[in-house]
Amino acid sequence: MSAKDNAPKFSIKTGSPEKLKSDCIAVGIFEDGRLSATARILDKASGGRITAILKSGDMDGSASSTLLLRELPGIAAVRVLLVGLGKQGELAEKDYRDAIASAVKAASNTAARDVILALGEAKVGKRTTDWNLAQAAIVAGDVLYRFDHMKSKPDTRARLGSIGFLADSATAAGLKQGAAMVRGMALARDLGNMPSNVCTPTYLASQARQLARTYGFKCKVMDKAACEKLGMGSFLSVAKGSDKPPMFIELRHEGGKKGEQPVVLVGKAITFDAGGISLKPPADMDEMNYDMSGGGAVLGAFRAIGELGLKLNVVGLVPACENLPDAHANKPGDIVTSMSGQTIEILNTDAEGRLILCDALTYAERFKPAAVVDLATLTGACVIALGHHPSALYANDDKLAQALEQAADRAWDRVWRMPLWDEYQEQLKSNLADMANIGGRAGGSITAACFLARFAKRYAWAHLDIAGTAYRGGRDKKGSTGRPVPLLVQYLIDQAGK
Ligand code: BES
Ligand code: MN
Ligand code: ZN
Repeated sequence: MSAKDNAPKFSIKTGSPEKLKSDCIAVGIFEDGRLSATARILDKASGGRITAILKSGDMDGSASSTLLLRELPGIAAVRVLLVGLGKQGELAEKDYRDAIASAVKAASNTAARDVILALGEAKVGKRTTDWNLAQAAIVAGDVLYRFDHMKSKPDTRARLGSIGFLADSATAAGLKQGAAMVRGMALARDLGNMPSNVCTPTYLASQARQLARTYGFKCKVMDKAACEKLGMGSFLSVAKGSDKPPMFIELRHEGGKKGEQPVVLVGKAITFDAGGISLKPPADMDEMNYDMSGGGAVLGAFRAIGELGLKLNVVGLVPACENLPDAHANKPGDIVTSMSGQTIEILNTDAEGRLILCDALTYAERFKPAAVVDLATLTGACVIALGHHPSALYANDDKLAQALEQAADRAWDRVWRMPLWDEYQEQLKSNLADMANIGGRAGGSITAACFLARFAKRYAWAHLDIAGTAYRGGRDKKGSTGRPVPLLVQYLIDQAGK
C-alpha cells in the first residue's frame, strides 16, 4: 500500500472566457444581483441569460450560494456555475475560501472533469491575485481530496481532476506554490489517514526513502541500535513498549549553498498513542493514529520542497515509534536519561511526545541549524486553549516567531503565539531527576513547550502544537487536514527568497 498521487492538476487559462472550452466555468455574482467582470462578459455573450436568471430570483449572490446552468448560448463551456460572493467589496479571506469551496463542491457533484474558476479576480482584503490563486488551489485540493486506500472497492465516481484559473499568466508562480502545497498536504493526509496497522514507523521510513529517490534528497534511517549508540534514552524508552521497531528518519535537501546553515524540521511521529501504562480512556482512542501528524507534515513539506526545487538547505527529522502498554513499557516513576544527558522522571507515560522530541532536538544540534521548527500533536490542553483554528506557536526567538507568523498568515494556515515564560518552568520540577515530564493540568500545552525548550537552547527554535489543527475527529468527519504543510512550505519559500 502506498500513498497515491491523486491531487488535481492546476493550470492558468487566458483568453476570452466565453470561448474557453471546458466542462464548467465558475463566475462570481454579488449580492443584489451585481455581476463580476467575467460574469458580465458571459452575460453579454449569452444574450443576457445570466441577468435574466438573476432577475427571476433563483440566485441572489449571497455568500457561497451556487446555481448551475447548462448550455448557455454563445458560451463554449458546457456548464456555467454562478457563485455567490456576498456584498461587493467586502470579501474577507474566510468568505473567499468558502466561496471557492462551494464552487468546487458544486462542480464536483456534476459529471464535469474540469472546471475553470474565474473567481480569482475578486478583491479579497488586501491580498494580491497571486494569493487568491494559491489559496484557491489549496481550498480546491482540500475539497477534492479523497482517501479510499482502505476501501475494498476504490471510489469510481467521476472525478473532477483539473482546475483551471482564469488569470494573467504572470500569476503562474503563485499558483505553482499553491499546487506544491496541495501535493505536500495530500501526502501528509494520506499518511495521517492510514491506520496504525499500516502506517508503522517502518512504513514512514519507506515513504521517506521513496521521497528521497523521487526528489534526490539524502535519506538516513536509524534503527534502535543506532539510536542507542547516540544515547537517545528518552526516545527509546517510549519505543520499548511496542514490538514495532522504532525508526529515526533523517531527510536532507541540499538546495542551498554548500555550508549554508539549514532549517531543521522535526516532526513527532507516534504512529499510535495508546498512552502506554498511563493508558488513555477508550473514547476517541481510535484517533491516535493521527499522533504521527507532525512527522507526516515533515514528509509532506519535503514533497513540496522537492517539487519546487527550493534553493535552501533543509533537514527533516522524524522520530517514529508507537506508545503502547506492555511488559517492556515505561512505567510511571521511571527515570530515563536523554541524549542531552538531562534526566527525566516519567510521571505520566502518556506525555510521550516530548520524550521522543527532546532527543530529536538534541540530535538537531549537529546540523548547526539556522532555525529548528518542531511540529507535534503534543497536548489535548492545546485543543482546550485554542480550539481547532490556529496551531499554538512557541518560540525562543522573536525573529523566527515573526517569520512563522507571517508565513502562517500568508498561507492562511494560522498560528497563535503562546508564552514560554520561566515561571511555567517550575511546574516541571522533580526532586529525583532533572525534570518531570508533566507539569500538571494548568497550562498543559505551555508546560509541554517549556519541557522542549530545555533541549533547544543552542539555536533559534520554534514549536507548533498542532493537536487541534492536524486532523478532524468524529465518526464521519475523521481525517487529516494536511496542516501545517502550507505554513511550513510558505516559511521555507520565504527563507529561500532571502
Ligand atoms: N498525543 C497526545 C496529545 C493529543 C491529545 C493530541 C488529544 C490530540 C488529541 C499526547 O501524547 C498526550 O497524550 N498528551 C497528554 C499529556 C498529559 C499526560 C500531560 C494530554 O494531552 O493529555
Ligand atoms: Mn500521549
Ligand atoms: Zn501523543
